[in-house]
Amino acid sequence: MTDARPPAGPSGVLERYAEWLPISDATPRISLGEGSTPLVRADALARRCGAAEVWLKLEMCNPTASFKDRGMVVAVAKAIEQGATAVLCASTGNTSASAAAYAARCGLRAFVLVPGAKIAQGKLAQAIAHGARVLAIDGSFDDALCIAREVTEELPVALVNSVNPYRIAGQKTAAMEIVDSLGDAPDLHCLPVGNAGNITAYWQGFSEYFHAERASRRPRMLGVQAAGAAPLVSGKVVEQPETVATAIRIGNPASWDGAVAARDASGGAIVAVEDAQILEAWQLLASEEGVFCEPASAASVAGLLNADPSELAGKQVVCTITGHGLKDAELVEQIDSDMIRLSADYGAVASALMEGLS
Ligand SMILES: Cc1ncc(COP(=O)(O)O)c(C=O)c1O
Repeated sequence: MTDARPPAGPSGVLERYAEWLPISDATPRISLGEGSTPLVRADALARRCGAAEVWLKLEMCNPTASFKDRGMVVAVAKAIEQGATAVLCASTGNTSASAAAYAARCGLRAFVLVPGAKIAQGKLAQAIAHGARVLAIDGSFDDALCIAREVTEELPVALVNSVNPYRIAGQKTAAMEIVDSLGDAPDLHCLPVGNAGNITAYWQGFSEYFHAERASRRPRMLGVQAAGAAPLVSGKVVEQPETVATAIRIGNPASWDGAVAARDASGGAIVAVEDAQILEAWQLLASEEGVFCEPASAASVAGLLNADPSELAGKQVVCTITGHGLKDAELVEQIDSDMIRLSADYGAVASALMEGLS
């Protein structure tokens, strides 16, 4: 018996992908209805980059509005199975929102460790609303993760960051879902890279389906980092990561080896894009594709737009859109918008409309 009801098919990641997950009858089948996210064609983007087809995997449509829910549901279910009563994560925001939601639903206590200075308000609001204890440290995400790992070795609190293998196991189901939807793996898969858990998970998902002959091939993986936080591009830890895309403001990814393995085994690449390119892609997704994501998510599209068009000709591409734009709505102030203030009368509104239509 599950506790969420999507329109069709098995409900939630634990039900839909049970055979691919490290779960047993003893694992509670919790769910907020995560997974089964839309895969939508992006023709304007395809025209811009020169690919035959571009698809957007809208992971922002998960219950807490980011991809984290797929892994979190598995991590929290396993924590419950193992008798935990509290969970802890370090987070740039989305992990904390997800951990807080699943903990609230399952009656666990949640503690979230966030970098005090750089976290989008929407994400913080989620963690607070779900009743998590928010610990904002005077330091970076990398500092927070370090402390979280140490403290969970000593105290009876389950660590639910992506260093927890159950998180990766859940997140790999997004890759499986893409193959299930398209009938095969795409030629190229683009996604933003911060702590590198997600690229590691996708590669695992594509590989497991390939080895089980559910897919005839595996995609080339294109991981995209922000130029001010691109340790996997330079090969060196970044002590002071800086980018407008706060979700990927990470200088020392925990899944470094997983990202490099995905890049090399797939014949892919991990590239860096400037903040200006991220914001351009972010605006373009909203204004041309109707997809309002957070800046980190737009990094994957910025990377695609930067790619050599001759390498994309005839190719099928999927970009993962990792988080919702409403989480970071303050950033919209950066868009040079032309909000028009009018008096509350018919004539003023009608003439503004006529001007807009001309
Ligand atoms: C919206 C968003 N995109 C991308 C990422 C990067 O994912 P990963 O840390 O698994 O590389 C994160 C991580 O927090 C995120 O919140």
